[in-house]
Amino acid sequence: MSSRKRVGVLISGRGSNMASLIEACAAPDYPAEITLVVSNRPGAAGLEKAADAGIATATIDHKAFSSRHAFEQELDGALINSDVELVCNAGFMRLLTDFFVERWLDRQLNIHPSLLPAFKGLDTHQRVLDAGAMITGCTVHFVRLDTDSGPIVAQAAVPVRSDDTADSLAARVLAAEHKLYPLALRLVASGAAQVKGDRVVRNNASEEGPALFWPPID
Ligand code: GRF
Repeated sequence: MSSRKRVGVLISGRGSNMASLIEACAAPDYPAEITLVVSNRPGAAGLEKAADAGIATATIDHKAFSSRHAFEQELDGALINSDVELVCNAGFMRLLTDFFVERWLDRQLNIHPSLLPAFKGLDTHQRVLDAGAMITGCTVHFVRLDTDSGPIVAQAAVPVRSDDTADSLAARVLAAEHKLYPLALRLVASGAAQVKGDRVVRNNASEEGPALFWPPID
């Protein structure tokens, strides 16, 4: 029996973050494996990417359920049936109720394209530009009931350029997301990062690292 953590990934769309996790899991020493990918949207492009990688997929269309709770029960059942131990939300566009959040408490991660707690919610990159922020980024955090909140596992800082559009900024942040999510999942799956109260504590972590100055400092 493998000691790798069994991970279920929840998606709603193209699944590029899911693909970055699949790629990371291909390394023999990576402490997690993806055993199931679930989309709440039929035909999500990420489903085909997962199937191409030989991963089991399921579509659980939220529109087919009379309540959020009924949808989440079905989702929970699919994860349990696959013996999933950790859930990674990757562009999963459903608000979750306390039922599902509690079921997977401290066992569910999400990635958000900003430096939380700034710029929670949708339309993130346009709001970053409108605010005149010069550094943005992305965050992987444990899921709590409040949207885009919860103990932070890892963050990457990304500069905002003066000629950025929401699309060009999204692309730069997405490239960082693809590195950050595999890093964060490795920390959690290996036990190197653990939730203690409202924060994540890391074992044996190097606390060294350069500051990002933007505009750059000479
Ligand atoms: C990413 O920017 C993620 O941070 C946000 O939704 C987007 C999903 O992209 N939650 P993808 O489906 O992983 O390509």
